[in-house]
Amino acid sequence: AETHYHQFVIQAKPVKRLCRTHNTITVNGQFPGPTLEVRNGDSLVIRVVNSAQYNISLHWHGIRQLRNPWADGPSYVTQCPIQPGGTYTYRFTIINQEGTLWWHAHTNWLRATVYGALIIHPKLGSPYPFSTPKREYTILLGEWFDRNPMDVLKLAQFTGAAPNVSDAFTINGQPGDLYRCSSQETKRFAIESGETVLLRIIGSMLNQELFFAIANHKMTVVGVDAAYTKPFTTNVVMIGPGQTTNVLLTADQPPAHYYMAAHAYNTANAPFDNTTTTAILEYKSAPCKKGQSSRPVFPQLPGYNDTATATAFTAGIKSPASQVKAITDIDENLFFTAGLGLNNCTRPNSPRCQGPNGTRITASMNNVSFVLPRTNSIMQAYYQGVPGVFTTDFPPVPPVQFDYTGNVSRGLWQPIPGTKLYKLKYGSRVQIVLQDTSIVTTEDHPMHIHGYHFYVVGSGFGNFNPRTDPANFNFVDPPLRNTIGTNPGGWVAIRFVADNPGVWLVHCHIDAHLSTGLAMAFLVENGFGESQSVIPPPADLPTC
Ligand code: C2O
Repeated sequence: AETHYHQFVIQAKPVKRLCRTHNTITVNGQFPGPTLEVRNGDSLVIRVVNSAQYNISLHWHGIRQLRNPWADGPSYVTQCPIQPGGTYTYRFTIINQEGTLWWHAHTNWLRATVYGALIIHPKLGSPYPFSTPKREYTILLGEWFDRNPMDVLKLAQFTGAAPNVSDAFTINGQPGDLYRCSSQETKRFAIESGETVLLRIIGSMLNQELFFAIANHKMTVVGVDAAYTKPFTTNVVMIGPGQTTNVLLTADQPPAHYYMAAHAYNTANAPFDNTTTTAILEYKSAPCKKGQSSRPVFPQLPGYNDTATATAFTAGIKSPASQVKAITDIDENLFFTAGLGLNNCTRPNSPRCQGPNGTRITASMNNVSFVLPRTNSIMQAYYQGVPGVFTTDFPPVPPVQFDYTGNVSRGLWQPIPGTKLYKLKYGSRVQIVLQDTSIVTTEDHPMHIHGYHFYVVGSGFGNFNPRTDPANFNFVDPPLRNTIGTNPGGWVAIRFVADNPGVWLVHCHIDAHLSTGLAMAFLVENGFGESQSVIPPPADLPTC
């Protein structure tokens, strides 16, 4: 195994998109940021130098960080942010993970532009569980804002404006042909007739889930979230923020140019901007006749509210059965609601504005709107025994049971703000049912758990029924993931073993929801001895 050393300098740099230039927070001047490419078993040492004017920290999304929460990154959860002028070195090892992950800023909305791919190849000499593709391409799906995303954040938090306030969707940082002033820079991916390539599709959007398709071509899903899957052939990929999908693509069509395109997926209730980002798949042998328009073929994308297609895609993803150690018994049976609330207030910070920053939207889980501490990180406070930073009274079930997906009364829109954690014993077998609520909107919340991946054993629409639904759970080939949607107006059931001690954030990966409190955190206690305990913090861990 190798150790890879990198320096990431966080800095503002003028970036031009859609005819406008503005200062953008970048890593090493790059947008999107640098790609990290390693092998399973390798270690990474990434020295982050903050030369920007904002506090920042970086998260290595999907890396398990066993016993090492100090390298996980969410600001005020596992570390204090790196202040302007400060540095911090993230050190971690990849343990039994292969596939595609990514890294991103985990402070306010800085991940809008501070993100990049993290590619984990198999160990030297160990093959993919499919024939080796001729080439590999990374497709980072993102969003571009004409304004500084940090200003957009403030606006969206207060007004309760639709989460989709970006000005373009992007592929590898480029909006593509259909947007103004963008066609020169449209991304192009070369392919040779007959060959098969691997596309690593990364959901690095800030607030939107997307449908992705390639004209006239099918894709075969072979992995998600750095875990292999049973090969599954599809015309369209639905991907949420935080998720990754690896697909094989075979150049089996007449040599020509074909669009790859992505546009918003969400429910009818949530507004969207009806724009589409594109890149071009170019057959190398495509005929190029003079004077003839070479407009690529355009793919069919499902409708913006095509929940059936989105659900069918997600449900089609299964583990290769041999890899599943089914968790059939559970010690912790948790039921968490995930939803938005909208306070009845008109001015920020007025008494009825109960959002985490005096805002109008108060997203919550089990009626608690998660508030980040300001003076310490939760993990540091826990490790050093500093009192008053958090409590461990996060409720295992909603304090009030109601018809979660029905017509919810306004009285249930006003959650309690708090930094509440739920304590888990080392090694406990955990089930969580994550239930969307139809307070304000019905939405698919892509829920992410730090420090863990989990088996998705069941999902459905409406209210989860604890008597009948578990009978249909899949213990044979449930997919292993780190981010999974609740379904709009539905639920998802996940299972994992709490074998990673530390403080681990659980949240909706739509930043508009995260920053208004759609989060909670687990405090997983140490087990026996050093091998089941959190390692000591590094000397350069930032303080607040
Ligand atoms: Cu990808 Cu808490 O994040």
